[in-house]
Amino acid sequence: MFAVSAVRSDTENPLNALEAGERPGPQPPAGWTTITVRAAALNHHDVWSLRGVGLPADRLPMILGCDAAGTDPDGNEVVVHAVIGDPEAGAGDETLDPRRSLLSERHQGTFAEQVAVPKRNLLPKPAALTFEEAACLPTAYLTAYRMLFEKAGVQPGATILVQGAGGGVATALILIGRAAGYRVWATSRSEAKRDRAVKLGADQAFETGARLPERVDVVMETVGQATWGHSLRSLKPGGRIVVSGATSGEVPPAELNRVFFTQLSIVGSTMGTRDQLGRLMRFCEQTGVRPVIDRVLPLADAAEGFAAMINGTHAGKIVFTP
Ligand SMILES: NC(=O)c1ccc[n+]([C@@H]2O[C@H](COP(=O)([O-])OP(=O)(O)OC[C@H]3O[C@@H](n4cnc5c(N)ncnc54)[C@H](OP(=O)(O)O)[C@@H]3O)[C@@H](O)[C@H]2O)c1
Repeated sequence: MFAVSAVRSDTENPLNALEAGERPGPQPPAGWTTITVRAAALNHHDVWSLRGVGLPADRLPMILGCDAAGTDPDGNEVVVHAVIGDPEAGAGDETLDPRRSLLSERHQGTFAEQVAVPKRNLLPKPAALTFEEAACLPTAYLTAYRMLFEKAGVQPGATILVQGAGGGVATALILIGRAAGYRVWATSRSEAKRDRAVKLGADQAFETGARLPERVDVVMETVGQATWGHSLRSLKPGGRIVVSGATSGEVPPAELNRVFFTQLSIVGSTMGTRDQLGRLMRFCEQTGVRPVIDRVLPLADAAEGFAAMINGTHAGKIVFTP
């Protein structure tokens, strides 16, 4: 079958590690099934994989892609939960299973005509969402859902700052946060992306690092090193940073004096559970929120989508159709 894979690691030039071509079709073990992929969404995770982060050489070649929507062998329209893990090993939360992985880390991913997944990982696709929209939910939108509703610890009406407004997770935070009644402020390096953030529902958008009109209750971090100091300075005393990514680097100065003196909390967040993915889909149905898609490309043109993400010229999700 046709698939898009990481065939080597290249830290400096990740596109060098990408290959499109024929790969063996899936052979699902007991308890797994094969999904015909109708749409698959790109995440920064796939760029990290090409750079070798989380994907050691002994697992290559690896078909990339965490997210998919498609049809099961009976023709049912389904969304694939990307977290492969055992809830019992994580006290009811598969993301806390010490052995959990995402599709494309240990098991072949979704950038293919077909993908094998545990039957447990299938949820019915809401009729209201297209395959392309549904494919955006399992990683970026689920991550945003958990950050907002499980980790942020504040009630609607609170002010939330989203760093790096153009990103996939950041866009989801703006859309879901607005629909849930939070006052959402956003930052971006690009004026066009700041304008877009306001159109999507952000109350205000600021240049990256700009002084804010007042301090906020919670900061949502996926950018990391480039915005970390600003995130710490932007919080009210007792405020909280929820961090789920570090695109620009993972070792900013910790500024421990500021953390303890203003009694800040720093909370990590990763993906979400299958049940949360189900609630996220219902949230989309009930509120009318739909994932914002930057572009849809044939899977054969995946390199174009990867290049846009590496250069940061995208805004929203990039989706591939096999
Ligand atoms: N923990 C989890 O479960 C989880 C789930 C999903 C994603 N993630 C992580 O979260 C991060 C974002 O993922 P994504 O898929 O949303 O990626 P993405 O679409 O590529 O977004 C990254 C955003 O970060 C901002 N950014 C990048 N470099 C920057 C810099 N030097 N200075 C300021 N801003 C910068 C950009 O915002 P502007 O262009 O608007 O400035 C960009 O849009 C990745 O690191 C990913 O691995 C983690």
